[in-house]
Amino acid sequence: MINDFFFFNPVKIYFGENQIQNLPKEAKQFGKKILLVYGGQSIRSTGLYNIITDLLNEFTIVELGGVEPNPDVSIVRKGAEICKMESIELLIAVGGGSVIDASKWIAAAACSDYDAWDFFCKKSTVDDALPLITVPTMAATGSEMNHGGVISNKVELKKIGRSSPLLFPKASFLNPKFTYSVGKYQTVCGSVDIISHIIEVYFNNQQSLEMLDSIMESLIKTVIKNTVIAIDEPSNYEARANLMWAASWAINGFINGPVKQGWNCHTIEHELSARYGITHGHGLAIIIPRWIRYCYTEENKNVYMKFAKNVLEIDIPDNQLPDIICTELEKLFFCTFGLSSNLKDLNIPSEELPQIADAVCGDGIIHGFAELDNKDVLAILKMCY
Ligand code: NZQ
Ligand code: ZN
Repeated sequence: MINDFFFFNPVKIYFGENQIQNLPKEAKQFGKKILLVYGGQSIRSTGLYNIITDLLNEFTIVELGGVEPNPDVSIVRKGAEICKMESIELLIAVGGGSVIDASKWIAAAACSDYDAWDFFCKKSTVDDALPLITVPTMAATGSEMNHGGVISNKVELKKIGRSSPLLFPKASFLNPKFTYSVGKYQTVCGSVDIISHIIEVYFNNQQSLEMLDSIMESLIKTVIKNTVIAIDEPSNYEARANLMWAASWAINGFINGPVKQGWNCHTIEHELSARYGITHGHGLAIIIPRWIRYCYTEENKNVYMKFAKNVLEIDIPDNQLPDIICTELEKLFFCTFGLSSNLKDLNIPSEELPQIADAVCGDGIIHGFAELDNKDVLAILKMCY
């Protein structure tokens, strides 16, 4: 049976080399006073800081730099405070997913009397938010075209994603050239993240649409092919453009269609990022192949067969499906993309694995392609070690 579904995505996209010229026109609709949010050095070393501030010379700009990867709730609190004190009318986020996510929650916290972390422990809901425009500088999270955002709490060692329709950016400016400077490590981590967003939908137990399955298969192949090109030629416009647009469409609600997403791998990875600050895509690269191998059953083998045939383009005997798919993904992530292959190399202590598994599952199970309890999660983590 094909489930009913609802799709809504209001984000206005400007894609290409010259579209940033439309930024003042879009910004003007929301007011004159802007909070410009960015991360570390990359915005200045690429010249993007000057491009943006020159374009916005008729606006009043307040700046919030220094947003770090896996952004902490403290930067959200700081940003919300500035918005309130300075009567900010619009946020412009220039950076990777961390900058965009932090900006989304600053936009919400600026319109709330609650503490920013209350959104994440469900003590408060998003009732209003300042408008947000984004200029992504990495192809990865798709945050520029969705209404979710992930925030860490370094004191409580938690990392939680939440969403609200009020957090869709009003417009996003996607220029593949703004990603030329992304180094090999962040490029491949971004690509693994894109692939993971598709795999976490593709591997499911509900009936998808053939139309969406074939789009997902083609998206994964496109990401693999263009990542390999971008590794060798970081300034290849076509490769960067393919990665950028694939990132946005992998997680803007479109590919889900009738399938409810489970996020098994993301739930496990977020626990690792929360505790050890690891890079999201790297954690996923280590988890995904092992999770795929672990979750195989007689009942779900069709999805493995489909993936082997249509994505990996190899014939695999049924009894070897989980092992060979796992090995092929390991080859891709660890040999072709060059990422290290286990949690040990990321300095995660083996004696903490049981504790991590318990924290991932809370008092119950995590839902998704497989229903996993803490013993399952521990088994997967051990395979990742
Ligand atoms: O801080 P700067 O100097 O900008 O450097 C960043 C950062 O060190 C660098 N970078 C970004 N653009 C660059 C660049 N370096 C050179 N040239 C450029 N053009 O890359 C590093 C990583 O940036 P970050 O924003 O952390 O990466 P990413 O885009 O992968 O975002 C990861 C965050 O997003 C969350 C992750 O959990 C993580 O916190 N996610 C958000 C999602 C969403 N909102 O829908 C979904 C994802 O599954 C994910 O969980
Ligand atoms: Zn992700």
